[in-house]
Amino acid sequence: MKILVTGGAGYIGSHTIIDIIENTNHEVISIDNFSNSNEDTFDRIEKITGKRVKNYNLDLTAYKSLKEKFFDVEKDIDGIIHFAALKAVGESVEKPVLYYHNNLNSLINLLKCVQKYSVKHFIFSSSCTVYGNVLKQPVTEESPTQNAESPYGYTKLVGENILKDFSLSISEFNAISLRYFNPVGAHISGQNGELPTGRPNNLVPVVTQFASGWINELTVHGDDYGTRDGTAIRDYIHVSDIAHAHVLALEYLSKSFGELRYDVFNLGTGIGVTVFEVFEAFEKSAGLKLDYNIGPRRSGDVECIYADNKKARTKLKWMPKYTIEDAMKTAWIWQQELNLIRDDMVRPE
Ligand code: UD1
Repeated sequence: MKILVTGGAGYIGSHTIIDIIENTNHEVISIDNFSNSNEDTFDRIEKITGKRVKNYNLDLTAYKSLKEKFFDVEKDIDGIIHFAALKAVGESVEKPVLYYHNNLNSLINLLKCVQKYSVKHFIFSSSCTVYGNVLKQPVTEESPTQNAESPYGYTKLVGENILKDFSLSISEFNAISLRYFNPVGAHISGQNGELPTGRPNNLVPVVTQFASGWINELTVHGDDYGTRDGTAIRDYIHVSDIAHAHVLALEYLSKSFGELRYDVFNLGTGIGVTVFEVFEAFEKSAGLKLDYNIGPRRSGDVECIYADNKKARTKLKWMPKYTIEDAMKTAWIWQQELNLIRDDMVRPE
């Protein structure tokens, strides 16, 4: 198959390209305008896989150029894996229109192209954020979705609905939304990982940057939750496990073409881990002690969420293979690499 990956220079996009190259014969092409990523990622992909991936530097919200500069040039795209999106929760609260414009128009433009150029398969990057604050854990795909806490989360919920309606409205097409839990870690080679621009908000890059002295405070956002150690519980899933699920999802879409129109899958380990347990895993992997402080709860955070991943295991034949220790180990190796290549990322506090 000929596969378009949007956001191919991004965190999950780049790991997925590596998995496609390593495990399939698909041809893979990327569209990325480097709005929150770096061109060097394609060098890293080449170093790991030996293959240079072609990238088109295009803005997906501009329909005309997407059509003329990509789809009229690259004929016969069989499938699209759509990662490209803005993803900072806090920023989305400050700039909601930017988030709705970017995340929704890019999806709509791609779906218009799907129709015009007869693309058969589509995979959408969704998030467990669509479940909101659910009491009953683990969450299954049947757990009700809720109005999201942030514009970012809302673009995922609305994006899923747009894709579902679209899939049911046309034949010769099928699609899957993959609901990621908390993607963490880096490629096992230590040569590719997350490149957060500015000060990170997500726990694992905060921990690795703190341990490297890039940021000078590590704050636990609340230790008064009703969990086993008082800190919030999440399902941290290794980015390479998430990446591989896309390869399996493509296979599933291709096999079930003509039968399946649309489906959704949770991508998590099924194991809930507290913030303190993440620290322990890091300390074990890096051989360092973390000197953290306790702060108040972060607004919008849920107490506990982890996946029931049975559906992905059964239907996609997906089996996550990395542990939280593997994730922390690879994230830490990747941080050493970042220490060498991205001194410009250090932000004075
Ligand atoms: C967030 C988003 C989610 C998004 C995901 C990946 C929300 C509600 N959810 O997940 O939609 O898909 O990022 O980008 O924002 N923590 C600390 N100290 C820190 C940072 C984090 O204690 O410095 C805690 C948080 O309070 C939370 C856990 O670590 O309990 C994980 O936080 P984070 O990595 O930001 O992910 P989520 O908030 O779960």
